[in-house]
Amino acid sequence: MSEDAKNNEGIVEFSEKTVEERIRDFGELLKSIESLDDKKRQLWREIYENAISDRQNSYVMFTKLVRLVQDKSTEHAVHGKTIATFLERMSRANDQLIKLAELIAKAQKGDEPEVVYELVKAVRVAVPAHIPVSAKMRLGYMDRNFMLENAHAIEDAGAAWVTVHARTKADGYTPPAFWDQLRPIREALKINVIANGEIWNNADAKQCRLESGCEDLMIGRGAVTTPDLTQCIRQNSDLPLLSWQDLLQLQIRFIHGPLS
Ligand SMILES: Cc1cc2nc3c(=O)[nH]c(=O)nc-3n(C[C@H](O)[C@H](O)[C@H](O)COP(=O)(O)O)c2cc1C
Repeated sequence: MSEDAKNNEGIVEFSEKTVEERIRDFGELLKSIESLDDKKRQLWREIYENAISDRQNSYVMFTKLVRLVQDKSTEHAVHGKTIATFLERMSRANDQLIKLAELIAKAQKGDEPEVVYELVKAVRVAVPAHIPVSAKMRLGYMDRNFMLENAHAIEDAGAAWVTVHARTKADGYTPPAFWDQLRPIREALKINVIANGEIWNNADAKQCRLESGCEDLMIGRGAVTTPDLTQCIRQNSDLPLLSWQDLLQLQIRFIHGPLS
């Protein structure tokens, strides 16, 4: 905080923008988010308007009272509780504004097939032609509405294959992975589609292939917990192929890196 922003009582002043200007700017920001419907836009605007006005009003009252009680200890007892109430209202308004910011960040991070296309294309153009470029995607960010468009965008941009983690970003890592959702992608694309997500053993691999129609699989955490999993799947074995001692040696080599 610069010294200019403080008045001579050491109280931080609100920055240059007025509440009205902030509300107007916020309205403009909401307008620029295409994925937002009008009802939500209106609701968020009202929440913002209330929160920012409440924060400002509380701040003004807080400041007045702080000035009033300064150097007058008897006034502290009278106004202390009210000052605390205004502080509490300011922090509640701040909480609302932070929540709103999170909602906006999520709405802005919608799936954008054009952006996906541009990203993959940029890499494809930058990498020598004889080196294949692939991409990995989830089924979507908040929902699956754009999964086919995004997969097509990757193909159209020149990727040699695409790996799809069968969950949205919002699904996180919570089981299940929706392997059946990969089938329409696999059927729509000409390039190879590699299935990914929640394959922990040979039975999962078989089920994933069955539901997705994808022959090739990518394994993440399963390969860390079961280093011989890829071998088990290749050999269609439900039982471990490596002895505990061999596995241990493999893990030690993994931990120390390829030069050990
Ligand atoms: C050690 C580890 C590193 C990972 N690194 C990446 C990464 O760099 N980029 C990425 O898109 N996903 C990464 N992932 C996610 C996996 O590629 C995969 O999509 C996810 O773990 C779901 O598959 P799984 O259920 O087989 O683990 C990583 C996963 C693990 C376990």
